[in-house]
Formats: sequence, C-alpha cells, structure tokens
Amino acid sequence: MNIIQNICSELLSDKPYSASRNFIISGVFWLLIGTSLGLLAAALMTWPDIIVNVPQMSFGRVRPAHINVVAIGWLSMGYLGAYFYILPVLVGRKGVWNERLANLTCLVFNLLVFTGVLSILNGYTEAREYAELNGIFDYIVLVGLFLSGLIGFKTVLTGPEKKWYVSIWYILGSLFWFPIVYVIGNRAFVAFEGLNDAIAGWFYGHNILGMWFTVGGIGILYYLLPRFTGNPLYSHTLSMIGFWTIGMFYAPTGTHHILQSPVPEWLKAIAVISSVFLLVPVLTVLTNFFMTMKGKWSLAAEHIPLRFVIVASIGYLLTCMQGPFQATRAINWYIHFTNWVVGHAHMALLATFTFIVFAAIYYIIPKVTGRKIYSKKMAVWHFWLSLYGVAIMMIILTCAGLVQAAGWHFAIPVDQWSVEMYPYMFIRFLSGVMIVLGQLIFIFNIYKTVFSKEAEPAPNSPTGIAFV
Ligand code: HEM
Repeated sequence: MNIIQNICSELLSDKPYSASRNFIISGVFWLLIGTSLGLLAAALMTWPDIIVNVPQMSFGRVRPAHINVVAIGWLSMGYLGAYFYILPVLVGRKGVWNERLANLTCLVFNLLVFTGVLSILNGYTEAREYAELNGIFDYIVLVGLFLSGLIGFKTVLTGPEKKWYVSIWYILGSLFWFPIVYVIGNRAFVAFEGLNDAIAGWFYGHNILGMWFTVGGIGILYYLLPRFTGNPLYSHTLSMIGFWTIGMFYAPTGTHHILQSPVPEWLKAIAVISSVFLLVPVLTVLTNFFMTMKGKWSLAAEHIPLRFVIVASIGYLLTCMQGPFQATRAINWYIHFTNWVVGHAHMALLATFTFIVFAAIYYIIPKVTGRKIYSKKMAVWHFWLSLYGVAIMMIILTCAGLVQAAGWHFAIPVDQWSVEMYPYMFIRFLSGVMIVLGQLIFIFNIYKTVFSKEAEPAPNSPTGIAFV
C-alpha cells in the first residue's frame, strides 16, 4: 500500500526537477528491456530455431519491439529527462513550468511504451520501419509530444533569463519539428498509396533520427561540453549555422533509403545531394567539439561522463562520414539490404546518442537527487562494456554486410551465403551480451544512487568531475 502511495505521489509531484528525475529513471528501466529485446533478436538470428511456435517471440515481432522500446522508452524518455533539467537551469527557473504536468507526461509515455510494445509483440502493427505503432498509439505519442513541447516552450518563455543559449535553440527546435514529422510520416494522420506511402514513411524514418535524435542530442551535448571542460563553447555562430543547416538539409534526405525503388529520379537526386550537404552541420558540431575540448583531453582520465561525451562525438564523426558516403548511388546500390546498415544504425543511436544520454544521466542524477553516483567502479565497467560491445558490434556487422553484399551482387544463391553468416551473428550476439551486462550494472548503480538509504551527498563540483 505504501509503495503504491509513494509511486502516486511521485507521479503527481510538483517538486522542482522531479519530472527530470522520473523521466530518467523510466528511461533507464526501458533501456534494460530494450537492449534485452535486441539481444533476443540477435539470438534468433544466430540460432533461428531456439524458440518455435511462440509468435510473440518470433524475429519479425521482437525486432520492431526492440526498436520501439529503445527509440521511445529509452532515448526519447532519456532526452526529455535531460531537457527538463537543462531548460529551467538555462533560463534561471527552479524546475519546469508545470512540474506536475511534466510528471503526468512521463506517465503517458510509460503507458504508451508498455501497451505499445505488447501490441507489437502481438502482431498489431503498421509494418513500416520505425513507425510500427498502430492507430491509437500514434495519437498517444502526439499527446506526449504536444505536452512535452508545451512544457518546454512555456519553461523557456516564462523564465527570467531572456538570452537563449544555443542548447535552447536545439532543444526547442527538436520539440517543435518532431511532432510535425510525426504527423506527416504516420499513416494514422496522412495516408498515401503505394510508393508515395514509402516516400512519406522514409521522410518519417529518417527525420526521427535527424530532427529529433540529432537536433536534441546536439542540444544536450552543447550543454554538457562547456560544463564538463570549464571552457566556453568555441563558437556560437557555428552552432547557429549548424542549427539552420540541419533544418534545411535533413528534411529531404529520407528518399536515400529507397534509391533502388522506382520513386521519381528528381526526388532521389535531391535526397542524395542533401545527404552530402549534411556534412555542413556535421562539421560545425565537430569543430565546436574539438575546439572546446582544446587543452582538456586529460580530464577524461578521471571525468567519467566526459568519456561518454568523447565517445559520442567520435561516434557522431564516424556515423556522419559513413552516412553521406553510403547515400551515394554507387555505394548504396552495393550495401543496401545488408547488415552494413544495421551497423550504421547502432553507431548512430547507440554509440552516439545513447552515449550522450549516459553522460547526461551521470551528470543530472546527482544534481536532481543531491546524491553522489553510488559507485565509480560500476560507472567505469558500464563505460568499457558499452564501448567494447558497440565497437565489436559495429565492426562485425560491417564485415557481415560486405559478405552479404558480395553474395547479392555475384548472384550467389541466398541459401549458400546465408550459412556463412553464422560466425558474424554469433559474435554480434556476444557483443550484445557485453552491452546488456553493462546496462545491468548501470541500472543497479542508478538504482542504488537514487533509492539507497546510505547514499553520499553530491559534492560541490561545477564540472561534475566529482559526481562519479
Ligand atoms: C540503446 C541501444 C540500442 C539502440 C538505440 C538500438 C537501435 C536499433 C535500431 C535503430 C535498429 C534498426 C536498424 C536498421 O535500420 O535496420 C536495430 C536493430 C537491431 N538491433 Fe539494436 N539497438 C540497441 C541495442 C542493441 C543490442 C544490445 C542488441 C544486441 C545484440 C541489438 C540488436 C539488434 C538486432 C538483432 C536488430 C535487428 C537487425 C536486423 O534486422 O538485421 N541492439 N537496433
């Protein structure tokens, strides 16, 4: 009874920063479920017969369940947890505009992920990549996004500080753009036939990455980097050029996912050219990163959250060099429909944006709970297991992709080259074991930090170096 009362009072709390804390805790919980579903999908690809006659556990259902849990339950909720800490701090408020509403929004997201994933596992799906949630769930996502946007904008507009730091531009940009992308790209709102449906679907599929994860992730990065290093962000002008060019060049890139289909040639040309032009905002972010880090690299020996930020930035560099390269027709023709693309997706969402959220959580949790992170050793294990896990996964999937591509293009029958995949799939499974183990350690560390009775108080540490 007491537990239920505690949960209810937490969920309807109006304590400053309680929503940030609750979003982060929920995100960490979904991270464990999401990566475990990924591991199950990897096991099914390695040993296809380990689970038979349970449709809910078949690869075709586990895969979209994995993607939706990590994209909505983990990354999006982690982002909102970070936003609801960063925005009020930057505008000089104590907590977001309406903490109770923000906690209610957290509840909406949790119910959405729970019921949405059960529905996907039971075969109720729109069957479009990244947009699998069906009908009613699309409306619930929109309600969640609308409420988050309302809270974000109201927090900034009612804060005493009127000058907008660059993170505010990026965070509000993501909260403004993503609901629009969601409405255009989901069949519940705009329905097209045939190829037009694929074009709209990939407008959504690519822009959930571009206008939500990229824009929001850079906003969080631009907040953390000056904090961690004690250096001011190298160039405000560059960051603003990056902000507007992301808006310009990301929007039409979606068609690069369907270059081998009979969509109009002009649309493919625009998608390829704007994909290459994406190097402009990417270089602004990386210049800002490397120049802000100047003279501070040695801090990473002790500063655990900074290590995550460094890996994330290098992940961003690699992802964004790979992206325009594989969007060109000559390369895309070869690697399409292979594991190369899956490697690329994990480089972006795991090595880059997931690592940014890890850094944010290690920094924000002590701030919003007043408690030092329970164990530095566990944070270090979390770092190395996640880093080696994702590096091995990326390398092995890229190699597997090249073998598959050769199979397709030399017209070798699939049943012959698919048996060659076993060692690659097995090593990918092992990389998943490392990652999931890392997340088990992480969730335990955060649990002990937030809930244990004997937690140490967070020390005064402007850069956060003493928090972990
Ligand atoms: C937070 C961490 C993770 C994120 C954000 C993430 C994200 C994704 C995304 C976006 C895809 C779709 C890829 C595509 O475009 O085809 C995907 C697929 C997949 N992921 Fe993950 N993932 C994560 C962790 C994991 C882990 C730990 C494993 C375990 C090995 C895993 C295994 C898989 C598998 C097996 C697929 C399906 C690949 C296929 O269809 O061939 N993921 N994941």
